[in-house]
Amino acid sequence: MNDQYQTLAQFYDSFVSKNRNYPEIATELAEIIGNDRNLLDIGIGTGLIVEHLLHIEPSYQITGIDTSEPLLEQAKQRLGQKVDLYCQSVSELDLAQQFDVAYSRGGAWTLVNEQSKTMLASHIFSSTDIQKSFDYVAKHLNEKGRLIISSSNAYGDNLVELDNGIVHKRSATTEFIENERYAILDYRFYQNDELLAQQILKLRLLSHQTFTKMLEEAGFVEETIKPGKYYIYSKRS
Ligand SMILES: C[S@@+](CC[C@H](N)C(=O)[O-])C[C@H]1O[C@@H](n2cnc3c(N)ncnc32)[C@H](O)[C@@H]1O
Repeated sequence: MNDQYQTLAQFYDSFVSKNRNYPEIATELAEIIGNDRNLLDIGIGTGLIVEHLLHIEPSYQITGIDTSEPLLEQAKQRLGQKVDLYCQSVSELDLAQQFDVAYSRGGAWTLVNEQSKTMLASHIFSSTDIQKSFDYVAKHLNEKGRLIISSSNAYGDNLVELDNGIVHKRSATTEFIENERYAILDYRFYQNDELLAQQILKLRLLSHQTFTKMLEEAGFVEETIKPGKYYIYSKRS
């Protein structure tokens, strides 16, 4: 499976906790989720959002999928038996269950602003696989189920000192590869100016028009947009 987080895994929690306010993210997500209880987290990572969601509402029934074994291992340690975890790509989603809400909070796909246009930034590269991922999510949602995709500002340049004295530097560029547009994120970790680790993360960028068409093909309609926060889709009945 394509795991772009292998090298990042050891630093993941310390740099995302510096860059993101997970209690706030979980509170906003819980407001959108409302009274729904069966949730699918697409790209659960180390389980930070789910941990906070369960503080807010312990009765959530949450399943998390991810393609990164090391991140899932940390999620397992954090969440124990409270959630069902699967090492699975959303483009091959195959669970014997249906959900009220599926969400990707910076997971398999996220929404970014690129030159003031909203684009889908996808860890899945081929259009066929992206389409499959939307189709499979639709199939795993109950009637009137919803898909929530977060907006993210995590794709610009960034420099931050982590608690353990390690400095995390992220540089973002955009490249055309075989006529398709990609965000290239260069993650580096330094200690006393010595490079400890580096990982290049690649994300396929799709225009609003293109991904909306794909979501429609999968049976979704755009329901609500919370600018800069979330795009919410409902399953067409
Ligand atoms: C930026 S991390 C976000 C993790 C978590 N949602 C959070 O907010 O901390 C993106 C996650 O998506 C996962 N991911 C990437 N491609 C995926 C796919 N095709 N299916 C499921 N998860 C995927 C990565 O392994 C990674 O854990």
